[in-house]
Amino acid sequence: MEHERIAIRRGPRSGLPIIVAVHSTALGPALGGCRIKEYARWEDGLADAQRLAAAMTAKCAVAGLDHGGGKTVVAGVVSDRTAVLHDVGDLVEEFGGAYSTGPDVGTGPADMDVIAERTRHVFRGDSSPATATGVLAALRVVGGESYAVIGLGHVGADVAGRLLEAGYRVLVTDVDAGKRELFPDAEWVAPGAILDAEVDVLVPAALGGLLTPATVPRLRCRAIAGPANNQLDTPATADLLHERGVIWAPDHVVSAGGVVYATETDLHGASPAAATVRVEKIGETLQAILDRAAGEGTTPLVAAEALAAARFTRRP
Ligand code: PHE
Repeated sequence: MEHERIAIRRGPRSGLPIIVAVHSTALGPALGGCRIKEYARWEDGLADAQRLAAAMTAKCAVAGLDHGGGKTVVAGVVSDRTAVLHDVGDLVEEFGGAYSTGPDVGTGPADMDVIAERTRHVFRGDSSPATATGVLAALRVVGGESYAVIGLGHVGADVAGRLLEAGYRVLVTDVDAGKRELFPDAEWVAPGAILDAEVDVLVPAALGGLLTPATVPRLRCRAIAGPANNQLDTPATADLLHERGVIWAPDHVVSAGGVVYATETDLHGASPAAATVRVEKIGETLQAILDRAAGEGTTPLVAAEALAAARFTRRP
């Protein structure tokens, strides 16, 4: 078993499966968002929580945070939201501070306020703008004149808006066609066709698993850098991207802005400006990873993993 601790509970108020997976506390208390999502089977939600928690460990390690990775997944369709969030808060509280939750896919700042009624181990406030700031820092490193943003949730919409504002050519898509109206200045592409788009950079900002042996051959971009967690179906797909000449910026490097900002402001008393400076460092970290990969002839994933591994071995 790779994870330190996994708690699964039928929420006493909601009746829904509530899953908290703590992957590692080797560098410090674990953190990771609360995802509310429908899965074909709740066990798929458990597997997702485990993968996402492991990704948070890598994210925190590479970002230089003294934190480990965890994740909460509520697998199902919510009817009484307050009941669900109180169930989540109680389970998080049982970890006694070894894990703190925060916003993620399917939840937002208002939900965190409700969770906070049951535990203080929750990051409040909106982490999306900081995550978007980190993505922009990463996009400056990979460069490009045209971008395809996949998914217009909180972070994706923010990134698309900032790219448009900066005058770039921006293609957008979302499974919700209603989002099209939000971006009259962007080129709308059907979700099924966005991977074929001829753009410099693809920006995955929706759910994970979109890069697979089946989709990589379709790509016509030069680079991929986005905030979606777990973009690769398996680590081997990083090799396929490399062989195809596509620079893939590891998602756990690109998406760290939210946790960097939240820990800096909430735990270390940093000002918003100082925390933002720290978020911007994602650009330097990514540059170092890409340089190392180029120098050693490896993939950016291998280079990022080496960076993360160094943090674990250097500790006594
Ligand atoms: N959803 C965030 C991520 O995947 C998790 C998070 C944000 C946790 C803010 C704590 C605070 O990185």
